[in-house]
Amino acid sequence: MPSLTWNASLANELAPMDATHREFIDCYNAAAAAAPEDFLPAFDRLIEHTEGHFDLENGWMAAVDFPGCHRAEHDRVLAVMRDIRKRVERGDLFLARRLIEELPAWFENHVNGMDAALAFHLSSIGFDVDRCTLRPLAEGEQRGTGCGCASMNTPEPASREHAQPAQSPAA
Ligand SMILES: [Fe+2]
Ligand SMILES: [Fe+2]
Repeated sequence: MPSLTWNASLANELAPMDATHREFIDCYNAAAAAAPEDFLPAFDRLIEHTEGHFDLENGWMAAVDFPGCHRAEHDRVLAVMRDIRKRVERGDLFLARRLIEELPAWFENHVNGMDAALAFHLSSIGFDVDRCTLRPLAEGEQRGTGCGCASMNTPEPASREHAQPAQSPAA
């Protein structure tokens, strides 16, 4: 069974971000360990967490006019989750299992890429994440633009045609 474990390499030294990432791991592990009949509520909790998690980071990015590719990545992942949720509701767990397998690698890439770049940027400009306020720029100071998107791969198990084993029974 796939699982995620918090470790020092995931720490971005931004307390509310790191706390949110620990919560993602807890929600993910609960969904990954859930029996099929318990999967939907566990998956709903993971989606609910992910919505709040991404809203938090999106709010920081909006406050500092951060490049949009990180937000777009959040939107893509949530769209995949919501699409798969509809299939789970119909009793089809095939793509949900694929997603559960792929999320750990996606999460570690995202935390070490886009989220790390965001945390570094927020720290470097003295952004107050608790008050969501931006320190005014000093004379001649510029905001950074490193969004970390070069290291990202969105999990996209959205096509049953591509995901179905070749020897599966014909429909
Ligand atoms: Fe994050
Ligand atoms: Fe993020």
